[in-house]
Amino acid sequence: MTGTRETDVLVVGSGIAGLTAALRASRTARVLLVSKGALDATATARAQGGIAGALDAQDSSSQHAADTHVAGAGLCHEDAVRVLCEEGPDRIGELIEHGVAFDRAAGPGSPYAQGLEGAHSRPRILHAGGDATGRAIQDSLVTAARRAPIEILEHTALIDLLVQDGLVEPAVALPGTPEDVPAGTPLPTSRDRASRTVDARRVRGAVLLAADGSRLEVHARVVVLATGGSGQLFSHTTNPAVATGDGAAVAWRAGAELADLEFVQFHPTALTGSGFLISEAVRGDGALLRDERGRRFLPAVDPSAELAPRDVVARAIARTMAEQGGRPVLLDATALGSATLARRFPTIDAATRASGLDWASGPIPVTPAAHYAMGGIRTDLQGRTSLPGLFAAGECACTGVHGANRLASNSLLEGAVFGARAGEAAGAAAAGTELAGTELMGTELTGDVAARDVADAWRAPGGTGANRPSVAWSRRDLQDLMWKDVGLLRTGRQLAHAAAVLDTWSAPAPSTLTALEDRNLLDLARLTVAAALARTGSAGAHHRLDDPALPARTVQELHAC
Ligand code: SIN
Repeated sequence: MTGTRETDVLVVGSGIAGLTAALRASRTARVLLVSKGALDATATARAQGGIAGALDAQDSSSQHAADTHVAGAGLCHEDAVRVLCEEGPDRIGELIEHGVAFDRAAGPGSPYAQGLEGAHSRPRILHAGGDATGRAIQDSLVTAARRAPIEILEHTALIDLLVQDGLVEPAVALPGTPEDVPAGTPLPTSRDRASRTVDARRVRGAVLLAADGSRLEVHARVVVLATGGSGQLFSHTTNPAVATGDGAAVAWRAGAELADLEFVQFHPTALTGSGFLISEAVRGDGALLRDERGRRFLPAVDPSAELAPRDVVARAIARTMAEQGGRPVLLDATALGSATLARRFPTIDAATRASGLDWASGPIPVTPAAHYAMGGIRTDLQGRTSLPGLFAAGECACTGVHGANRLASNSLLEGAVFGARAGEAAGAAAAGTELAGTELMGTELTGDVAARDVADAWRAPGGTGANRPSVAWSRRDLQDLMWKDVGLLRTGRQLAHAAAVLDTWSAPAPSTLTALEDRNLLDLARLTVAAALARTGSAGAHHRLDDPALPARTVQELHAC
């Protein structure tokens, strides 16, 4: 049975980006907000470290921007970074108005306590409840959304977008194997693509799966996707179960451009076994990483040691683990003392103790885990995608703000800044008063444009392996394959293997929540592999062991992994 509904702005996703967009859009338009699970079952609610912002007199948005560019390996989009860092403090101010009680500290400058995390040149991370920052933000924004004139539907999943006059056929446009694109074939440029793609199409709403299994067709003037990330692509992740890449997969099936999928951030320190995040803020406060014999290994890798950019620390851990037979490295926070650990990191303290570990008296085992997708649905600075009527914000979007590796604690900030921009622009578009000043795709991304466009290139008709018999597969199979072949350290051979295996799997019909998530994961896995194959060099979080530019010694060393 299919019901129908109408609204001006449909917002999908209820983390910081979705809630902020919904609140903004509701100032000028009717808003329907849907979430796949409960409104607070989001990655935002789990965020520990905090939200970065240049609030102190000794700090500046340009210094914050400079740190963002360094962490992003020089591939960040300059305008997006400027917007993030300049507008960030005002958006943090709005969170405070919504009731987020950031931890305070007596002292000069800002009244708020500010933590240090990797690749920041100074402490600028605001936190709440010690390490419960995301929970504080989530709860305040949910309260604000429930008070606002926003219709809310929980436990309602996105199946596909309504484009022009009907549902996009899910079976089209799967990426093919690498052989479909002979080596040396030039990939299309943005200009080529613009002349042959989606100008005539327009997003008109979405088809949703309700909790009772019925379908709901929502007709909307505009849709904002804020569905979060895709950590569930990998067998080890810090992400919640809902992070199945729905927004990016759905947008891609509808014909929107994606970018930067090869850039997947692996957080260096997840608790071995459970994948529970041990915040980088713990290292910011002085915890050290040691090998199983108790020796520090990071000072030899980077002058910033434990506070080097995340991709650097994660790779050093992977290398050390390889040298010690795959066994985890150790996070030593004992110098902080039990009282400080319990006060500053109450969530982690409780979780480690629940796992039978006492991190105040001994080091705890940690391993990297998939944490954040830098890539996603390509947008301009107002959240506009390449499909008219479709906006995106937060982790499912790609403004280019994170480049090849996101700076710690810039993700909540991105959700607040670009969620507000997307909500504002969506509200204006729904009212027929498009915001002036930017054009669709007016943000020309920097970096390797050919690789950014790869998802589109692999959308060649007939490149889907559609005639081959499908091999049975499970989500666990996909996650294990991605972890093994498309993880922290990659080679062309591994990636080609992953592509070949994925090509033998078919997407299930999206009749249940699990099936539609699996379909999204399969689409996104194929696209991620295609993007990783196309970028033959290493950059930030995308590390190719067969990168011809790597010094020979490093290659040999890394091959040991
Ligand atoms: C952390 O607390 O280490 C994670 C914060 C982030 O991903 O930026």
